[in-house]
Order: sequence, then C-alpha cells, then structure tokens
Amino acid sequence: MAAPTDRKPVVIADDVHVEYRVLATGKRATAADSARKILQRSRKTRTVHALKGVSFTAYENDSIGVIGSNGSGKSTLMRAIVGLTPTSQGSIYAASRPSMLGVGAALIKDLSGERNVILGGLALGLTLEEIHEKYDEIVEFAGLRKFIELPMRTYSSGMTARLKFAIATARQHEILIVDEALAVGDKTFRDRSEAKIREIRDNAGTVFLVSHSMRSIADTCNRVLWINQGDLMMDGPTDEVIAAYEAS
Ligand SMILES: Nc1ncnc2c1ncn2[C@@H]1O[C@H](COP(=O)(O)OP(=O)(O)O)[C@@H](O)[C@H]1O
Ligand SMILES: [Mg+2]
Repeated sequence: MAAPTDRKPVVIADDVHVEYRVLATGKRATAADSARKILQRSRKTRTVHALKGVSFTAYENDSIGVIGSNGSGKSTLMRAIVGLTPTSQGSIYAASRPSMLGVGAALIKDLSGERNVILGGLALGLTLEEIHEKYDEIVEFAGLRKFIELPMRTYSSGMTARLKFAIATARQHEILIVDEALAVGDKTFRDRSEAKIREIRDNAGTVFLVSHSMRSIADTCNRVLWINQGDLMMDGPTDEVIAAYEAS
C-alpha cells in the first residue's frame, strides 16, 4: 500500500521472523527405559517457524485489523510488537511503548472489582486522583455496577475480560493492541468497545485489533493485515483484504 508521507510512522516491522523451540515428545517411554534414557529423549526439540519475514509500517491514527486462521501467527506478531516474544531475525521499531490489553494489568482474583480498578489503574500509571475521577466511567463501561463489590474470582471470564478492557482503555494509549478480547462480550459490550477503539484512534493513537469477527474489523479498522501460516498475505484497505480473505 502506498503510504502517505505526511503521517507519522509509529510501528515498523522489518522482516520479522519468530521461531519457537518446542520440546517434541518422541516415542512413548516404556517401563524398561532408564530415567536417563527418558530424559535424553525429551531433550529433542522441534522448531516452529511462526512468523516468516513480516514487514509493514503502521502510522498514527491507523486502526489495523489482524486476521487469519488459527495458528497463523497473529498473537505471535502482537507479542513481538509489545516485546514479549523475541524476534529470531528482523526488527520491530516502535515510537513509544505499546500496550497490550490484559498484559500488565496485574489484577488479583481475591480482591473486589473495585479494588482491582484501583490496582489496575495504578499499574497503568494513573494517579489515585485520576482513578477516582474515572472510576464511575470504568464501572459503567464494564457493566459491572451490581458486582463491583464482589471478589473478582466470582466473575465469569467474560466479566473479567470486560473489566480489563474498561480499565486498560481508561487511559489514552499511543499504541494499543487488542487480541481477541472483544469476542467475549455480548453485543452491547462489543459496540461500546468498538466505539472506544475508534476514540483512541481519533486521539492520534494507533490500534491493532486481532479478531475473527469480520464485522468488528470492518466497523473499527481502516486497514487490515492478513497473516497465513506466518506469511503476510495482504496489507491494504479493510474491504479489499476481507474480501480476499473470505474468497480464499
Ligand atoms: N509459546 C509457544 N511455544 C511454541 N509454539 C507456539 C507458542 N505460541 C505459539 N506457538 C505456535 O506458533 C504458531 C502461531 O501461533 P499464534 O501466534 O498463537 O497464532 P494465532 O494467534 O494466529 O492463532 C502456531 O503454530 C502455534 O502452535
Ligand atoms: Mg491468537
């Protein structure tokens, strides 16, 4: 895609490769095998080439959908952008530290939703005063008013995900990565989340949204990366890439 030169590049991926070394279970051990033999066997590793030379440039105000079938390397690419997964070849440059939804928000299951809003807000770098200012908005957004005094371990996974999303988006992010978090909510929550993502983008943020919902991607993103088995198949305007993906 020809990039307009007046927009600020925010993330540059240059020939990114990621390889995972995994322990492959060889033949089943039998009772006759010595412990040493079993240990030697389990030392065999296999390499999974999860990304095979992915390059792109993301700009300010870009909202980028990331699509592809299961195991194609979407989450690996997102973790590489955040710096959680090292590249085995190539580089990623980011203009500021990217935030990944859910990661870093060290929520504690035995504490109430209310305490976790405060804790999560502090972890994001908000002051106590800012958290109190935003508290009602976060709780409303998560739709957890009735449950906010209960310990988080009583929440369903959907409720937990909604709370994490609400906390994380209480702050403006320059680079925000959302990996399939929207899938857990109901339609109302999804609509609200999508509006929130558009708001972040409109405030000069850059958003990456990994989703299997083409509707969410179409409603939120101006651009889409399609990844298949570690290769970047296509990078272009949302409607064109979705059409090609669905035709494949
Ligand atoms: N921590 C890991 N260790 C080993 N292999 C992994 C790990 N994470 C992902 N993989 C493998 O890398 C490939 C890409 O996975 P992933 O990035 O999770 O794909 P997606 O998010 O598109 O479903 C898959 O083959 C998966 O099995
Ligand atoms: Mg994934």
